[in-house]
Amino acid sequence: MKAKNSLAAPVSLVTGGAGFIGSHVAENALNLGHKVVVLDDLSGGFERNLPKGVIFVKGSVNDVSLLDKLFSDYKFDYVYHLAAYAAEGLSHFIRNFNYTNNLIGSVNLINQSVKHNAKRFVFTSSIAVYGENVTPMVETLTPSPEDPYGISKYAVELDLKAAHKMFGLEYTIFRPHNVYGPKQNHGDSYRNVLGIFINQIFKKQPITIFGDGTQTRAFSYIDDVAPYIARCVQMSSTVNEIYNIGADKPYTILELSNEIFNAMGKNYGINFLPERNEVKHAFSDHSKARKAFKMRKAVSLCEGINKMVEWSKEIGEMQPTVFNNIEIESNMPKSWAALTAKK
Ligand SMILES: NC(=O)c1ccc[n+]([C@@H]2O[C@H](COP(=O)([O-])OP(=O)(O)OC[C@H]3O[C@@H](n4cnc5c(N)ncnc54)[C@H](O)[C@@H]3O)[C@@H](O)[C@H]2O)c1
Repeated sequence: MKAKNSLAAPVSLVTGGAGFIGSHVAENALNLGHKVVVLDDLSGGFERNLPKGVIFVKGSVNDVSLLDKLFSDYKFDYVYHLAAYAAEGLSHFIRNFNYTNNLIGSVNLINQSVKHNAKRFVFTSSIAVYGENVTPMVETLTPSPEDPYGISKYAVELDLKAAHKMFGLEYTIFRPHNVYGPKQNHGDSYRNVLGIFINQIFKKQPITIFGDGTQTRAFSYIDDVAPYIARCVQMSSTVNEIYNIGADKPYTILELSNEIFNAMGKNYGINFLPERNEVKHAFSDHSKARKAFKMRKAVSLCEGINKMVEWSKEIGEMQPTVFNNIEIESNMPKSWAALTAKK
């Protein structure tokens, strides 16, 4: 076994660290005294998100020779794996891309973590693994994901269990949900509902809601998620555990839109679109995480949205991105098909 960084600062790899949650996890890991290497292909992230002090490597988790070199060079103690294309609804229509990026990319990192004796693999799964299930969703429920994104997350969870059993790789899995806050990409047309609404208001357009807006989600402020993900590696009690993480209180999309109209100080109305094939109510129980971590009081939706809006105003309107390689077009929401057709 290789000598690990026992006396020196822990060395951590944060994949997806130029993205939203990853950049906050990287910042928290730096604050814990880690040396942090960020690997990100910038497919959904931005260099401006990188916290000062990280070593940035532009590249993909599917570049196995790059991974091999990074793991050999840095001998990572901890791997925080956040790189993914987290577009749950779109994942039905980009199945090959979803599994290649989100599942095979994760397996590539698990292989390296085993080969190079990483001390912990921290994985951001999602409450998408539960599918349409009883609410609030608890970790003891049997997952039943309903879309390729959730299926890939659950497959990685199972692979981590198998890798632990076979090779002793220790892991901690988080299942966040609807995380929002500064540094979140508000230019992606297919995900991040708060960002989509904010960008539509920048463009002086009505916001678009799929269905009647009564679907519920518990929107989680980034500071109630990222610090715990970073910190888990210091706690032996979190080894091989799975935690739901995020806000307790669900809101309807209509309630969310009112908060955003208030924070933006502008309202150009709502354009209701046909309902999308999605889980209607998704919120989870966080007793397990609360017991494990000394969690501070969660940021309220109103306060969190104000912070996100303040940051978004510094960035300003973004040109909405369109996914280039849709694999299946049938049954796609019309508004998304129209984006592809415009290209
Ligand atoms: N935002 C949420 O509400 C939420 C909820 C549950 C789980 N998650 C998970 O948390 C993680 C981070 O999500 P986020 O919201 O910050 O998304 P994000 O898009 O802001 O961050 C993901 C980052 O990964 C990078 N990336 C994507 N594919 C890559 C690849 N093949 N190689 C290297 N880098 C790659 C992107 O460039 C981006 O910077 C993801 O794994 C996501 O599935 C997010």
